[in-house]
Amino acid sequence: MNIQDISNKKFFIFDAFGTLFKTSEVKAELTKIAGDKTDNLINVWRNKQLQYTWLRNEMEQYQPFSVVTREALDYSMRLNGITDKKVFDILLPLYDTPQLIDGAKELLKTLKDNGKTVAILSNGTRSMLDNGVQLTGIQYYVDHILSVDDIGIYKPRPAVYQMALDKLGATIDQLIFFSSNQWDVSGASIFGLDACWINQYNETKEGLPFGNVVETESLKELTGYF
Ligand code: LAC
Repeated sequence: MNIQDISNKKFFIFDAFGTLFKTSEVKAELTKIAGDKTDNLINVWRNKQLQYTWLRNEMEQYQPFSVVTREALDYSMRLNGITDKKVFDILLPLYDTPQLIDGAKELLKTLKDNGKTVAILSNGTRSMLDNGVQLTGIQYYVDHILSVDDIGIYKPRPAVYQMALDKLGATIDQLIFFSSNQWDVSGASIFGLDACWINQYNETKEGLPFGNVVETESLKELTGYF
């Protein structure tokens, strides 16, 4: 598949955090508490949050993303020697009341204007995703919100990508999955979905297995294909 061919697809499925919604924001309030540990606090938090979802998959110990997100932040704070509980109030809203990455709304609107079915498939909880969609005003452009909470298994397990096909009633060739998270692009494409890696953080390609994947550098560039 060439990137230009994505406009032939009918179902456009997006990862949420890191792809449409921001996962970090350095506020003055946070820097005041964490100082030069701020970046490390945020990076360790995100990495541990993801790692904990995968470990919980392995152990069959599912807990919702809200719980895992808090446990990961608690760890990152202890690691960085930060005790001020205000950090929870500053950082957890990134997930509880998510904000859009630049270009997301324009892309989703363009897809709807072109008659596509748009869905979100995320490890986030239903309330995180509902809040994000409502508060950012993209509810007009998102037809389906699919949360792993419904099956209690996290991406990149194949069952999650299968859930998307089942819930949308889509055949595998009608659907394309978009993510900026390489582990997610890997999981979806190895499962058998056509996938698009939105490399908006200019990352080096990971040493993971990939199936049929096209790459684009931004949400804005993607919008240009319609
Ligand atoms: C998501 C996160 C984990 O699934 O990126 O939205």
